Amino acid sequence: MGEWAGRGLRDFAGRVAVITGAGSGIGRALAIAAAARGMRLALLDVDMKGLEETRGLLAGQPLIRRCDVSKAEDVQAAADAVFSGLGNVHLLFNNAGVAVGGYSWLTTADDWQWSLGVNLMGVANGIRAFVPRMIAAGDEGRVINTASVAGFLSVPGSSVYCATKHAVVTLSECMRHELAIEDARIGVSVLCPAFAPTGIADAERNRPAELAAKNPSAGMFDARLRKAVESGRLTADDIARIAFEGIEADRFYILTHPKIKAAIATRMEDILEERTPTDTVPR
Ligand SMILES: NC(=O)c1ccc[n+]([C@@H]2O[C@H](COP(=O)([O-])OP(=O)(O)OC[C@H]3O[C@@H](n4cnc5c(N)ncnc54)[C@H](O)[C@@H]3O)[C@@H](O)[C@H]2O)c1
Repeated sequence: MGEWAGRGLRDFAGRVAVITGAGSGIGRALAIAAAARGMRLALLDVDMKGLEETRGLLAGQPLIRRCDVSKAEDVQAAADAVFSGLGNVHLLFNNAGVAVGGYSWLTTADDWQWSLGVNLMGVANGIRAFVPRMIAAGDEGRVINTASVAGFLSVPGSSVYCATKHAVVTLSECMRHELAIEDARIGVSVLCPAFAPTGIADAERNRPAELAAKNPSAGMFDARLRKAVESGRLTADDIARIAFEGIEADRFYILTHPKIKAAIATRMEDILEERTPTDTVPR
């Protein structure tokens, strides 16, 4: 295996970006940022109204398509439509996500199935459907998986969410090493924001009826999540801008809120020192 030089992508104009969860929040902001750089877009979401609203904010005519990222066959069909309609994909943003709260011992099977389905399998399904064809095309490209700082921390009341986001971080790290082994022209980033005002505190709006059983203690944590999200200092647009700066710089870890690094350092030190974990979340 030779030295893998990394894959900064700076020439965006005319190239294709696929964004999941593009009907709201960070996904919408990524769509606006990608369109501003002259990219051709494919926007996927379960929320067609949200996708229409995103499309209305853009100058061009993106491909929009209903796609439940937790369903492998939906994502495969979306990939078929994108590759045949727009050609090769250069940026794949696996961004769609949902949040559930509550004590770990009161989580429901539905909480797990829904959250793992969207937050983890959504990313895995995107990688499986798009990356083999991106590699085969031989062109440069990048996969940007939206995790969270919750992918590095352990937040009380967020065990399900944290478990999915930690999984997205390690999935991304493994993939980075594998692409280097193959000397593929595809880079990877894991986008890890802290709180930003988006629709994430209302993620229940997208919970499928067949997975409706919700953690009975969720309400204890919902108000705190809403307040934290609403008081986030960076906007979704800020996060999208920082994401593109990270892509241009070929940065794997894109941490949008530098102050949170102290909490990550504490967790890492706790592990290395074999200390009982510190609860770094302010109350
Ligand atoms: N906002 C924050 O504070 C924050 C912080 C860290 C990480 N994140 C992550 O950012 C990503 C985007 O979230 P956001 O904050 O913009 O929230 P949001 O609710 O505004 O947007 C999420 C989008 O995902 C879509 N979605 C939900 N389930 C889906 C499914 N099964 N298939 C396809 N699309 C689906 C929703 O319809 C929505 O348009 C998520 O992965 C979230 O975990 C958000």
